[in-house]
Amino acid sequence: MKKRKISNICCIGAGYVGGPTMAVLADNNPKLKVTVVDINKQKIDLWNSKDLKYLPIYEPGLAKVISRNRDVNLFFSYNVSESIAEADMVFISVNTPTKKKGFGAGFASDLKWVESSARQVAKYSRGHTIVVEKSTLPVKTAQTIKTILQACEVKCEDINKNKSFSILSNPEFLAEGTAINDLQNPDRVLIGGDDNNAIKLLKEIYLNWVEDYKILTTDLWSSELSKLISNAFLAQRISSINSISALCEATQSNINNVAKAVGMDKRIGPFFLEAGPGFGGSCFKKDISNLIYICNHYGLSEVASYWEKVILINQWQQKRISKIIVEKLFGNLSEKKIAILGFAFKSNTNDTRESPAISICKDLLEEGCFLSIYDPKVKKEQIDRELKLINTLESDFDNEKHYWEKSKNINEACDNSDAIVILTNWEEFLNLDFKKMQSIMKSPSWIFDTRNMVELSQAERYGFNIWKLGDGF
Ligand SMILES: NC(=O)c1ccc[n+]([C@@H]2O[C@H](COP(=O)([O-])OP(=O)(O)OC[C@H]3O[C@@H](n4cnc5c(N)ncnc54)[C@H](O)[C@@H]3O)[C@@H](O)[C@H]2O)c1
Repeated sequence: MKKRKISNICCIGAGYVGGPTMAVLADNNPKLKVTVVDINKQKIDLWNSKDLKYLPIYEPGLAKVISRNRDVNLFFSYNVSESIAEADMVFISVNTPTKKKGFGAGFASDLKWVESSARQVAKYSRGHTIVVEKSTLPVKTAQTIKTILQACEVKCEDINKNKSFSILSNPEFLAEGTAINDLQNPDRVLIGGDDNNAIKLLKEIYLNWVEDYKILTTDLWSSELSKLISNAFLAQRISSINSISALCEATQSNINNVAKAVGMDKRIGPFFLEAGPGFGGSCFKKDISNLIYICNHYGLSEVASYWEKVILINQWQQKRISKIIVEKLFGNLSEKKIAILGFAFKSNTNDTRESPAISICKDLLEEGCFLSIYDPKVKKEQIDRELKLINTLESDFDNEKHYWEKSKNINEACDNSDAIVILTNWEEFLNLDFKKMQSIMKSPSWIFDTRNMVELSQAERYGFNIWKLGDGF
């Protein structure tokens, strides 16, 4: 069946992707009604909160877009069935984490949320519905969704003769922390599918704010795969520069100088060459793991082990940093207090999923120190959730005891500390008040800078011992 026009959109999943993506889409398509639904009622309530500081995610510029469009043509609802029934087009933007158990555990994507979304669409949709995969999915997932929907087409024939579906892949390339800008000015929009009319209708929506030449249309499988490969390439670049940071430390060279010289080559380019404590966020590790799984599935074990190294270097970088901190502090952290500056996986987001801070903090806690953690956007409960994952079987760590506190500001975190460790590149860490910090910290005092935030000469002037990642001077 051919659809002529889209007037009503439903997005399943009101998370880091669904919320901002639909907000920008609604902002640029005032005639469209856009409803974002989620099974998590609490999250929907937060999206609807009057005070925009309570939105469930922090992204620069997000609150403004929400305030312009919410309850005008953008709605957040937990009435999944009604929103699907009204929609001409349904985006699936649900979580696709790595499987924790069963076949493929640790590598394959857990598609249970995608499957349940497809079943909801099959059950509640009316007429012809265009289903758009927004989640990052293993190549060929569209086939699974198709099979579920087609089964319904056959079964529902008597009840609703007109029920039919088209499936498109439209992966999202936004980066957390710059999501609104990325959505507003994307490098490209990718639409994969085999129904030209459905592709045209989705493209028309994007054409309201994205130039035609940036909208790529492909087959379904290339589109699904491109998203995984983009993330794999980005993560590979981070692991590459991080591996060289260790070599710089060993050879009295400096990673920033090397990155600059290398990045000025047009064939390489300057982006994503900042060494740090390793990549985090919900996507890179899970997407590479999934790529490894797919490669092994197709018998491409050499390709799989090539990509596996990207993850291994990332884990190694985090362990390496923990070890250096322990060694510099005389091999003993018991009775010591360490200030942790930053817990989010990068600046301008409150997302802590797979943040390098988690494993580094766990390592330090295992060594017996007390941590004072400061992050301007991450809530205490979130840190608690992440740090409680400590495996008590392998250590004598007692989860019930409090070995860390959340500090209200930098000074509170530093007070009486032996060392500070900068783990997230929040802008406010660029202007640390070394004089004040030195006066409230213990001596000898250390700064471990994993994000290249500290001006060495400034900090040294106040008597700090400094370790900077990738700096071998
Ligand atoms: N976070 C990123 O930076 C990013 C960027 C690009 C792509 N992606 C991909 O986008 C997808 C979503 O990621 P996210 O970070 O937004 O995840 P998220 O966990 O923040 O949000 C997913 C939401 O989907 C909801 N949900 C799950 N099943 C549902 C169902 N059956 N009905 C209604 N709601 C349901 C969950 O409650 C959750 O709120 C993933 O596949 C991810 O890989 C993420």
